[in-house]
Amino acid sequence: MRRVVAAETLDHLPAHDPAAIRSRRDLVRVHRMMGTRSIVRKGWQALVSPQRAREPLRILELGAGDGSLLLGVARSLAPRWPRVRLTLLDRQDIVSPATLEGYAALGWTAQVLATDVLDWADAHDEGTQGGAAQRWDLISTALFLHHFEAGALERLLAAVAARCDRFFAFEPDRAWLALTGSHLVGLLGANAVTREDAVLSVHAGFRDRELSGHWPRDAARWQLHEARAGLFSHCFSAWRMQEAR
Ligand SMILES: C[S@@+](CC[C@H](N)C(=O)[O-])C[C@H]1O[C@@H](n2cnc3c(N)ncnc32)[C@H](O)[C@@H]1O
Repeated sequence: MRRVVAAETLDHLPAHDPAAIRSRRDLVRVHRMMGTRSIVRKGWQALVSPQRAREPLRILELGAGDGSLLLGVARSLAPRWPRVRLTLLDRQDIVSPATLEGYAALGWTAQVLATDVLDWADAHDEGTQGGAAQRWDLISTALFLHHFEAGALERLLAAVAARCDRFFAFEPDRAWLALTGSHLVGLLGANAVTREDAVLSVHAGFRDRELSGHWPRDAARWQLHEARAGLFSHCFSAWRMQEAR
Protein backbone atom coordinates (compact mmCIF):
# COMPACT_ATOMS: atom_id res chain seq x y z
CA MET A 1 0.00 0.00 0.00
CA ARG A 2 1.51 3.31 -1.09
CA ARG A 3 1.50 6.05 1.58
CA VAL A 4 -1.08 8.77 0.81
CA VAL A 5 -1.47 11.83 3.05
CA ALA A 6 -4.85 13.57 2.80
CA ALA A 7 -6.42 16.37 4.85
CA GLU A 8 -8.51 14.98 7.70
CA THR A 9 -11.85 16.64 8.45
CA LEU A 10 -11.33 16.88 12.23
CA ASP A 11 -8.23 19.03 11.71
CA HIS A 12 -10.25 21.61 9.83
CA LEU A 13 -13.44 21.75 11.85
CA PRO A 14 -13.75 24.54 14.43
CA ALA A 15 -13.11 23.19 17.95
CA HIS A 16 -16.73 23.78 19.03
CA ASP A 17 -18.40 22.28 15.97
CA PRO A 18 -20.71 19.52 17.29
CA ALA A 19 -19.30 17.05 14.73
CA ALA A 20 -15.76 17.78 15.96
CA ILE A 21 -16.75 17.37 19.61
CA ARG A 22 -18.42 14.07 18.78
CA SER A 23 -15.45 12.89 16.73
CA ARG A 24 -13.03 13.60 19.58
CA ARG A 25 -15.28 11.51 21.81
CA ASP A 26 -15.19 8.74 19.19
CA LEU A 27 -11.43 8.87 19.37
CA VAL A 28 -11.59 7.66 22.97
CA ARG A 29 -13.34 4.49 21.73
CA VAL A 30 -10.95 4.14 18.82
CA HIS A 31 -8.05 4.29 21.28
CA ARG A 32 -9.70 1.61 23.39
CA MET A 33 -9.97 -0.63 20.31
CA MET A 34 -6.32 0.06 19.40
CA GLY A 35 -5.08 -0.51 22.96
CA THR A 36 -3.33 2.86 22.73
CA ARG A 37 -3.07 3.65 26.42
CA SER A 38 -1.24 0.47 27.28
CA ILE A 39 1.00 0.65 24.19
CA VAL A 40 2.00 4.25 25.00
CA ARG A 41 2.58 3.42 28.67
CA LYS A 42 4.83 0.49 27.77
CA GLY A 43 6.63 2.59 25.13
CA TRP A 44 7.37 5.29 27.69
CA GLN A 45 8.47 2.77 30.31
CA ALA A 46 10.89 1.22 27.83
CA LEU A 47 12.45 4.66 27.32
CA VAL A 48 12.57 5.87 30.94
CA SER A 49 14.05 3.61 33.59
CA PRO A 50 12.19 3.25 36.93
CA GLN A 51 15.04 5.09 38.63
CA ARG A 52 15.01 8.02 36.16
CA ALA A 53 11.22 8.18 36.37
CA ARG A 54 11.41 9.11 40.06
CA GLU A 55 13.35 12.28 39.17
CA PRO A 56 11.72 15.39 37.62
CA LEU A 57 10.68 14.75 34.02
CA ARG A 58 9.72 17.26 31.33
CA ILE A 59 7.41 15.68 28.78
CA LEU A 60 5.99 17.26 25.61
CA GLU A 61 3.07 15.75 23.72
CA LEU A 62 2.79 16.92 20.08
CA GLY A 63 -0.73 16.98 18.61
CA ALA A 64 -2.16 16.25 22.05
CA GLY A 65 -5.79 16.99 21.11
CA ASP A 66 -7.94 17.35 24.22
CA GLY A 67 -5.27 15.75 26.44
CA SER A 68 -7.55 12.90 27.50
CA LEU A 69 -5.46 10.05 26.05
CA LEU A 70 -2.41 11.02 28.08
CA LEU A 71 -4.49 11.56 31.20
CA GLY A 72 -5.23 7.83 31.09
CA VAL A 73 -1.52 7.09 30.69
CA ALA A 74 -0.70 9.51 33.51
CA ARG A 75 -3.16 7.78 35.84
CA SER A 76 -1.34 4.48 35.48
CA LEU A 77 2.16 5.97 35.69
CA ALA A 78 1.80 8.70 38.32
CA PRO A 79 2.59 6.49 41.35
CA ARG A 80 5.96 5.62 39.77
CA TRP A 81 6.46 8.88 37.82
CA PRO A 82 5.66 11.43 40.52
CA ARG A 83 7.34 14.63 39.26
CA VAL A 84 6.19 15.25 35.70
CA ARG A 85 5.87 18.61 33.98
CA LEU A 86 3.75 17.96 30.92
CA THR A 87 3.18 20.31 27.98
CA LEU A 88 0.29 19.53 25.65
CA LEU A 89 0.89 21.07 22.21
CA ASP A 90 -1.92 21.27 19.67
CA ARG A 91 -3.06 23.76 17.06
CA GLN A 92 -6.45 23.80 18.79
CA ASP A 93 -6.77 24.99 22.37
CA ILE A 94 -9.17 22.28 23.52
CA VAL A 95 -7.88 20.86 26.80
CA SER A 96 -10.69 21.32 29.30
CA PRO A 97 -10.19 22.66 32.85
CA ALA A 98 -11.45 19.26 34.09
CA THR A 99 -8.65 17.48 32.21
CA LEU A 100 -6.05 19.88 33.60
CA GLU A 101 -7.46 19.26 37.09
CA GLY A 102 -7.17 15.54 36.41
CA TYR A 103 -3.41 15.95 35.88
CA ALA A 104 -3.12 18.20 38.93
CA ALA A 105 -4.88 15.60 41.07
CA LEU A 106 -2.08 13.17 40.15
CA GLY A 107 0.58 15.70 41.10
CA TRP A 108 1.52 16.35 37.45
CA THR A 109 1.81 19.90 36.17
CA ALA A 110 0.13 20.17 32.78
CA GLN A 111 0.09 23.21 30.53
CA VAL A 112 -1.27 23.85 27.07
CA LEU A 113 0.78 25.17 24.17
CA ALA A 114 -1.63 26.18 21.38
CA THR A 115 0.47 26.44 18.25
CA ASP A 116 1.10 24.80 14.90
CA VAL A 117 3.76 22.13 15.37
CA LEU A 118 5.69 23.31 12.32
CA ASP A 119 5.95 26.80 13.86
CA TRP A 120 7.26 25.05 16.97
CA ALA A 121 9.72 23.09 14.83
CA ASP A 122 10.93 26.21 13.03
CA ALA A 123 11.20 28.32 16.21
CA HIS A 124 14.73 29.45 16.85
CA ASP A 125 16.35 29.83 20.21
CA GLU A 126 13.85 32.37 21.48
CA GLY A 127 13.86 31.24 25.08
CA THR A 128 10.10 30.94 24.89
CA GLN A 129 8.31 28.04 26.48
CA GLY A 130 7.96 26.22 23.18
CA GLY A 131 11.13 27.57 21.59
CA ALA A 132 14.31 25.72 20.87
CA ALA A 133 15.78 26.80 24.21
CA GLN A 134 13.43 24.38 25.92
CA ARG A 135 14.66 20.80 26.28
CA TRP A 136 12.55 17.77 27.01
CA ASP A 137 13.32 14.45 28.63
CA LEU A 138 10.63 12.84 26.49
CA ILE A 139 8.60 13.96 23.48
CA SER A 140 5.64 11.79 22.55
CA THR A 141 2.94 11.75 19.85
CA ALA A 142 -0.16 9.67 19.14
CA LEU A 143 -2.00 9.54 15.81
CA PHE A 144 -0.20 12.66 14.71
CA LEU A 145 2.89 12.12 12.53
CA HIS A 146 0.79 10.60 9.78
CA HIS A 147 -0.61 14.10 9.06
CA PHE A 148 2.68 15.09 7.45
CA GLU A 149 4.27 14.50 4.06
CA ALA A 150 7.92 13.47 3.98
CA GLY A 151 9.40 17.01 3.85
CA ALA A 152 7.41 18.36 6.81
CA LEU A 153 7.95 15.13 8.72
CA GLU A 154 11.71 15.46 8.37
CA ARG A 155 11.58 19.10 9.52
CA LEU A 156 9.54 18.05 12.51
CA LEU A 157 11.69 15.06 13.46
CA ALA A 158 14.86 17.17 13.15
CA ALA A 159 13.42 19.61 15.71
CA VAL A 160 12.40 16.72 17.96
CA ALA A 161 15.89 15.17 17.80
CA ALA A 162 17.46 18.54 18.62
CA ARG A 163 15.25 19.18 21.65
CA CYS A 164 14.82 15.92 23.52
CA ASP A 165 16.59 12.81 24.76
CA ARG A 166 13.80 10.32 24.11
CA PHE A 167 10.99 10.18 21.56
CA PHE A 168 7.98 7.91 21.20
CA ALA A 169 5.41 7.86 18.37
CA PHE A 170 2.20 5.84 18.11
CA GLU A 171 0.74 5.80 14.59
CA PRO A 172 -1.64 3.80 12.40
CA ASP A 173 -0.10 0.70 10.84
CA ARG A 174 -0.43 1.03 7.05
CA ALA A 175 -1.57 -2.53 6.52
CA TRP A 176 -4.67 -4.48 5.48
CA LEU A 177 -5.76 -5.42 9.00
CA ALA A 178 -5.68 -1.81 10.18
CA LEU A 179 -7.47 -0.73 7.00
CA THR A 180 -10.22 -3.28 7.63
CA GLY A 181 -10.48 -2.06 11.25
CA SER A 182 -10.71 1.55 10.07
CA HIS A 183 -13.68 0.66 7.84
CA LEU A 184 -15.40 -0.84 10.88
CA VAL A 185 -15.19 2.08 13.33
CA GLY A 186 -18.85 2.78 12.50
CA LEU A 187 -19.61 -0.32 14.61
CA LEU A 188 -18.28 1.62 17.61
CA GLY A 189 -20.94 4.26 16.91
CA ALA A 190 -18.43 6.67 15.33
CA ASN A 191 -19.76 9.62 13.35
CA ALA A 192 -19.10 10.37 9.67
CA VAL A 193 -16.03 12.52 10.46
CA THR A 194 -14.37 9.73 12.45
CA ARG A 195 -15.33 7.06 9.91
CA GLU A 196 -13.75 9.00 7.08
CA ASP A 197 -10.68 10.19 9.02
CA ALA A 198 -9.96 6.66 10.30
CA VAL A 199 -9.57 5.33 6.75
CA LEU A 200 -7.48 8.34 5.66
CA SER A 201 -5.25 7.86 8.72
CA VAL A 202 -4.41 4.28 7.80
CA HIS A 203 -3.55 5.27 4.22
CA ALA A 204 -1.20 7.94 5.66
CA GLY A 205 0.18 5.61 8.35
CA PHE A 206 3.56 3.93 8.48
CA ARG A 207 5.16 0.53 8.12
CA ASP A 208 8.55 -1.19 8.12
CA ARG A 209 11.32 1.33 8.97
CA GLU A 210 9.71 4.37 7.34
CA LEU A 211 9.89 6.67 10.36
CA SER A 212 13.51 5.68 10.99
CA GLY A 213 14.17 6.70 7.39
CA HIS A 214 12.86 10.21 8.17
CA TRP A 215 14.89 10.57 11.38
CA PRO A 216 17.84 12.98 10.89
CA ARG A 217 20.69 11.08 9.29
CA ASP A 218 23.37 12.97 11.21
CA ALA A 219 21.88 11.94 14.55
CA ALA A 220 24.44 9.19 14.94
CA ARG A 221 24.07 9.01 18.68
CA TRP A 222 20.49 7.84 18.57
CA GLN A 223 19.25 4.31 18.98
CA LEU A 224 16.05 3.64 17.00
CA HIS A 225 13.35 1.01 17.28
CA GLU A 226 10.35 0.71 14.98
CA ALA A 227 7.74 -2.04 14.70
CA ARG A 228 4.08 -2.93 14.47
CA ALA A 229 2.34 -2.72 17.87
CA GLY A 230 -0.93 -4.45 18.72
CA LEU A 231 -3.23 -5.22 15.79
CA PHE A 232 -3.58 -1.81 14.24
CA SER A 233 -0.65 0.40 15.13
CA HIS A 234 2.96 1.13 14.34
CA CYS A 235 5.38 2.56 16.92
CA PHE A 236 8.71 4.32 16.71
CA SER A 237 11.08 4.96 19.63
CA ALA A 238 14.35 6.86 19.66
CA TRP A 239 16.75 7.54 22.51
CA ARG A 240 20.15 9.14 22.84
CA MET A 241 22.71 6.46 23.45
CA GLN A 242 24.65 8.28 26.16
CA GLU A 243 21.42 8.85 28.03
CA ALA A 244 20.95 6.58 31.07
CA ARG A 245 17.41 5.48 30.36
C1 LIG B 1 -6.11 12.46 15.37
S1 LIG B 1 -5.95 13.78 16.50
C2 LIG B 1 -5.01 12.97 17.79
C3 LIG B 1 -5.18 13.65 19.13
C4 LIG B 1 -4.49 12.91 20.29
N1 LIG B 1 -3.07 12.76 20.07
C5 LIG B 1 -5.13 11.54 20.46
O1 LIG B 1 -4.52 10.56 20.03
O2 LIG B 1 -6.22 11.47 21.02
C6 LIG B 1 -4.72 14.79 15.73
C7 LIG B 1 -4.48 16.12 16.45
O3 LIG B 1 -3.44 16.81 15.77
C8 LIG B 1 -3.74 18.19 15.78
N2 LIG B 1 -2.99 18.80 14.67
C9 LIG B 1 -3.09 18.50 13.33
N3 LIG B 1 -2.19 19.20 12.63
C10 LIG B 1 -1.49 19.95 13.53
C11 LIG B 1 -0.41 20.86 13.43
N4 LIG B 1 0.12 21.17 12.24
N5 LIG B 1 0.07 21.42 14.56
C12 LIG B 1 -0.46 21.13 15.77
N6 LIG B 1 -1.49 20.26 15.93
C13 LIG B 1 -2.00 19.69 14.84
C14 LIG B 1 -5.24 18.27 15.62
O4 LIG B 1 -5.75 19.48 16.11
C15 LIG B 1 -5.67 17.04 16.45
O5 LIG B 1 -5.96 17.42 17.78
